[in-house]
Amino acid sequence: MEPMIGQAQHEMQALPDFVLRQFDRQTSEYDHLQLYRILQTGIRHSELSAGLKLPPTRVLAQALGIARNTVVHVYEQLALEGYVEAGVGRGTYVTHLGLRTVKAARTPASNRDEPLSQRGRALIEHAGAARLQWGAFTPGVPEVRMFPVRIWNSLQSRVWRYAAPAQLTYATGAGDAGLRQAVAEYLQGTRGVACTAEQVVITSGTQQSLLLIAQLLADPGDTAWLEDPGYWGARSVFRAMGLRLLPIGVDGEGLAPTPQQLRRPPRLMFVSPAHQYPVGALMSHRRRRQLLDYAAMHGSWVVEDDYDSEFRYGTRPLPALQGLDEHSRVIYLGTFSKTLFPSLRVAYAVLPPDLVEGFARSLNELFREGHTMQQAVLARFMAEGHYATHIRRMRTVYSARHDALIHAIRKQFGADLQVLGGAAGLHVVLELPQHVSDESVARDAQLAGVTTRPLSMYYMRKSAATNGLLLGYGTVHEKEIESSFATLATVLRRHL
Ligand SMILES: Cc1ncc(COP(=O)(O)O)c(C=O)c1O
Repeated sequence: MEPMIGQAQHEMQALPDFVLRQFDRQTSEYDHLQLYRILQTGIRHSELSAGLKLPPTRVLAQALGIARNTVVHVYEQLALEGYVEAGVGRGTYVTHLGLRTVKAARTPASNRDEPLSQRGRALIEHAGAARLQWGAFTPGVPEVRMFPVRIWNSLQSRVWRYAAPAQLTYATGAGDAGLRQAVAEYLQGTRGVACTAEQVVITSGTQQSLLLIAQLLADPGDTAWLEDPGYWGARSVFRAMGLRLLPIGVDGEGLAPTPQQLRRPPRLMFVSPAHQYPVGALMSHRRRRQLLDYAAMHGSWVVEDDYDSEFRYGTRPLPALQGLDEHSRVIYLGTFSKTLFPSLRVAYAVLPPDLVEGFARSLNELFREGHTMQQAVLARFMAEGHYATHIRRMRTVYSARHDALIHAIRKQFGADLQVLGGAAGLHVVLELPQHVSDESVARDAQLAGVTTRPLSMYYMRKSAATNGLLLGYGTVHEKEIESSFATLATVLRRHL
């Protein structure tokens, strides 16, 4: 976006005046909520126009006589929602209304003022990925500060010392052979996955695995079953690929299709049996058998997302659904995003043997897959036992944090609020009474400096949505959990 440099000086003064005129120190409204409301309304009504530079947080805080942190949080929230944009060292500017215009737009793709196609607009309108990915209690992000950087670094030097041309030219296969082997051994040993290294295809994330699945195994208009509530990432990819999405409810045993839904077999079924995302059910053995029999009978594909099964505290996970499958209907997905760190962008799909060649060719054709050297480093990291050690260490860390979070919740609310999710993974779900809007709580919590995700956002069927908050503990030290939750509890009490 283009800042309007010429007007900057004038506007730097105009904005504090604009806020000062409206800011009421006598009101009972919290400072951060009031400031957020004034700025957001000003931007929405174009009283603060696109390109306008906001004053530095220190200047505005001084002008209003409030804490600087309050202004920082409000700017962050506005940035998160796309109202302002901050560039390092450049300041913060009111954005052009692009994205929000897209949301409101209902015009056909042929409209010359509309740069995005209908498909593009749908993708953005339904986007689920949050902009803020760190800080208490961001869900789905591991403790990246404990990644063994020194070990990685030394392995990296070793791998680069022997870099071969075949590793540096265009990649032509399904990933680094050593990594495919290491992943196969790991999955056989820990998850009961029945596979050889040849069945493992390395991708640059679960999102890419899902894209390949939708592209190669379904045609536009085909039906995909999705757990509801469920993983927004699968929803986004399948929708973008033109599939018809059918939300299927989940209960304590996992995916629970109704008899009516069972009458129309889908092409794809997306499930997270080890730890249903986001509410945490472990799919029962009975349900697993039913699902596999149904898939075999109707020729449906089961997509098993085993995204965080490494982290179970106290109980052992059931082996993967894939290991039970006698009819080669399961595609098993795993990722290093939770066990190592998300920006690594390495994941894997375990495919029935006759699908491998097609997947590898498509990966090559569409993406020219790469990061081969990084894959080779990861292969060594696994083969030399560092991966298993890191997982063991993190399991202990997360288990303690999980317990600390449960303790903090009980300390603040006793047994008044229910916690879902089981002792597993990287987050819990705090259920809220139905009259409490989880979106409002999450928004106010963000302004107070605490990140949570509203549970209702994970539902496709808004009528079935339960209110709650996803609270991640990967991004917060154990000793900070109690105080961060106390901040959240203060916000929450205003809504109860
Ligand atoms: C349910 C689920 N599956 C998979 C992933 C991992 O996705 P990726 O491998 O693209 O990082 C996530 C990450 O948020 C997730 O929540």
